[in-house]
Amino acid sequence: MEHKLLTVLMSVVMIGAATVGAEYVRPKPRKALHFPWSRKPSSEPQQVHISLAGDQHMRVTWISNDKSSPSMVEYGTSTGKYTSIAQGESSSYSYLFYKSGKIHHTVIGPLEHGTVYFYRCGGQGPEFQLKTPPSQFPVTFAVAGDLGQTGWTKSTLDHIDLCEYDVHLLPGDLSYADYMQSQWDTFGELVQPLASAKPWMVTEGNHEKENILMLEDEFVAYNARWKMPFEESGSSSNLYYSFEVAGVHLIMLGSYTDYDEYSDQYSWLKADLLKVDRKRTPWLLVLFHAPWYNSNKAHQGEGDSMMAAMEPLLYAAGVDIALAGHVHAYERSKRVYSGRSDPCGAVHITVGDGGNREGLATKYIIPQPEWSVYREASFGHGELRIVNATHAFWSWHRNDDDEPVRSDQIWITSLVSSGCVADKRSHDSHLRKMLLSP
Ligand SMILES: *[C@@H]1O[C@H](CO)[C@@H](O)[C@H](O)[C@H]1NC(C)=O
Repeated sequence: MEHKLLTVLMSVVMIGAATVGAEYVRPKPRKALHFPWSRKPSSEPQQVHISLAGDQHMRVTWISNDKSSPSMVEYGTSTGKYTSIAQGESSSYSYLFYKSGKIHHTVIGPLEHGTVYFYRCGGQGPEFQLKTPPSQFPVTFAVAGDLGQTGWTKSTLDHIDLCEYDVHLLPGDLSYADYMQSQWDTFGELVQPLASAKPWMVTEGNHEKENILMLEDEFVAYNARWKMPFEESGSSSNLYYSFEVAGVHLIMLGSYTDYDEYSDQYSWLKADLLKVDRKRTPWLLVLFHAPWYNSNKAHQGEGDSMMAAMEPLLYAAGVDIALAGHVHAYERSKRVYSGRSDPCGAVHITVGDGGNREGLATKYIIPQPEWSVYREASFGHGELRIVNATHAFWSWHRNDDDEPVRSDQIWITSLVSSGCVADKRSHDSHLRKMLLSP
């Protein structure tokens, strides 16, 4: 059915392309997937996903309905032969009338780099397989935000599955459960084939909040189900943290928690930036949900106050690329700072086009701002291949195309290689002054 629809759409596109001056025909949102979610036999592990948890460690997360099921992961490098066992922790949460299953978080490691491991959760059920990221360049990130669980989500995930990548980056808005807690469970099942095999590193979007005045706090389900390595990176909140892969330092910021200069997030960010060693990690990336550079009419200006608070810090630190979601479209900027193109600023990319039920954001500000290079309202995903210390290749893949078709692509050279990054050890460096100021 979906394939038929796609074929029809593609022929429409082709006819469109053949007609002089005809516009690309944008597909409509697809329906929410209805898959029968039912609680599995008691202790069988469900919704398995993995995330990086400090140097050479991986956190395995899953849910069981059996309260006595152990938070144990058995693993090894050959199938069926588990040479190591790790014990973890578990929790559960209630939300209105919903009670979650037992949510297990178990950290395994130390693990070899670039190695396939086989693992089993809770001492039973099927065997899963994961691959750890490499220790050195090249390293590839798949990027897709605002996923949801529709026919387009499925199409985005299928496309990502065809690409060779090491880590999935998700700049917010995961399940679109929107208070319906069982939809966090269906989302967990939907992404399990990918998220159990490669680490999924996520930050929160507005759809993760789910607070209800006087009844439910913010981010209850998100924090319980998608625990990220915040403790490992010296943060006191699951809503912002950092991690390193090969020669890349990645900072996951929170658009929906305090970010002003008196906030915990701001102090943590300063401390984290001070720890970055560009000799070890020449690339510095940041992710957050609400974009700072957005020329779509949707969510216009929503990132402005966070940008005003944090952009000077990120500029001083020499952030190479900032990835965002929120706007259901794709946009890539030049290197920018303070609203203008700047050779030492970050490339800002919005990839909020993962496929959620709300559909695409098709209205743009005209004329296109000077800093905006490419903008298009289509579903798709991005791939960032960091080739070496100086070169990275970014490509954006529209879902309507075959996976090999890159709708937008660009070589990005690192700020380290262009002399923009101040040495933080030198006393007069701007960064040092900013980071050490009270
Ligand atoms: C880094 O990769 C680019 C693109 O492939 C290449 O042109 C360049 O020579 C590489 N640099 C080094 C130091 O290998």
